[in-house]
Amino acid sequence: MRYTKMLLTAVSLLMILAFVAACGGGQTAAPAAQPAQKPAAVQPTTAPAVQPTQAAAQKPAAGAKKLEIFSWWTNGGEATGLEKMYGIYKQKNAGVEIVNATVAGGAGTNAKTVLKTRLQGGQPPDSWQVHAGKELTSYVDAGQMQPLTAFFKEQGYDKVMPKLLLDQITYKNEIWSVPVNIHRSNVLWYNKKVFAANNLQPPKTLDDFFKVADALKAKGVTPLAVGGKDKFENGHLFESVLLATYGPDDYAKLFAPGTKWDDAKLTQAIDTMKKMLGYANSDRSALGWADAAQLVLDGKAGMTIMGDWAHGYFLSKNAKPDVDYGWAAAPGTDGVFLWLSDSFGLAKGAPNPDQAKAWLMVCGSKEGQDAFNPAKGSIPARTDADKSLYDVYLKYSIDSFGANKLAPSIVHGAAAPEPYMVAYGNALEVFSSDLDTKTVKQALTDAGKEIK
Ligand code: GAL
Repeated sequence: MRYTKMLLTAVSLLMILAFVAACGGGQTAAPAAQPAQKPAAVQPTTAPAVQPTQAAAQKPAAGAKKLEIFSWWTNGGEATGLEKMYGIYKQKNAGVEIVNATVAGGAGTNAKTVLKTRLQGGQPPDSWQVHAGKELTSYVDAGQMQPLTAFFKEQGYDKVMPKLLLDQITYKNEIWSVPVNIHRSNVLWYNKKVFAANNLQPPKTLDDFFKVADALKAKGVTPLAVGGKDKFENGHLFESVLLATYGPDDYAKLFAPGTKWDDAKLTQAIDTMKKMLGYANSDRSALGWADAAQLVLDGKAGMTIMGDWAHGYFLSKNAKPDVDYGWAAAPGTDGVFLWLSDSFGLAKGAPNPDQAKAWLMVCGSKEGQDAFNPAKGSIPARTDADKSLYDVYLKYSIDSFGANKLAPSIVHGAAAPEPYMVAYGNALEVFSSDLDTKTVKQALTDAGKEIK
């Protein structure tokens, strides 16, 4: 009995150590390779009671100035963009040491869990990555952020950002964060050479998608690359399917409090998703979004549907836009820009508030945004950016943002509150492995009750 207890304690200790190591507080290194896994039935929504991460635990040497920035930008493109903003910060703030606290995992599914524990434990980083929109409100409601209204106006950001964004960072009559970009979620990326060799055009509609998929399959190319390791990729794909199925107006209504999430269109969207996954790589639960993008780059897969951080990733691999890879709106969503925005806020109790404000000035500046976004694969949050710095894809994206109907992303924090996002994400990751249409519909209907 005593022996079993000791053994259990030793095993838990090892697991905690492994967790801390995997979180890699303060490191930019990619996560340790993980074994292929099936998605767990239910993902944890709270982190184990470990932490602080290494970065927070290190006390600055007396007199040394520090700034700790927390994000999940560790992949090619996103890490490059972040480094560019750090470069500008360092030029303007000599002598401040930046602690780059990253937790790998797209869409922040891992990072948010670690952050939550740090915040609850009273050990906030100075500033953290947060999506504009509903995701932001949970930190505000928990009293974890400082209002930035006066700062925002002093800097004149309210004059150079679109109303859409200003509305998404305003809550309870205050502004809470500084947006750095606008990303597009509903993008289909395809391998240009594979498409040309097979006389294929990027599919416009869902029907076209299945025709193209059949043609690729007949040639032995995986039609659709899908990830799952980061626990958001299937939910990401599904938001484009929802948008295609409902259309932008009814899609928007899904996020009105009281919507039932149980109609025939939801069944239709789930059936479409199941059919799509029938054309996807079967090892998806072991691959992250960037691995799936890499399959397209390598010509092993024809297409992937991913946000335009995939563009940043492709650039980081020295691939040429419009030569090695092409893009189009996700099938059935042409004319709609499914948007999301990354922003940074100021922690309540930030250890280094002055340094943090200097960081937010880089985030909000034209210089910062024009350095960050061309590498990140996103378009600037500011409307006065220098368009000549943006490549052929990003020019297309800037134009689309101006001309298209806009719809908010679910997975990336714009449309719905955090508890819904978590339940939605879990439901889709489980579905990707069991393909049980009834269970996922019930799970989504249950999740819908979180939209209040
Ligand atoms: C999103 C985030 C993007 C990108 C992506 C993949 O949630 O908004 O900036 O980082 O996750 O990591």
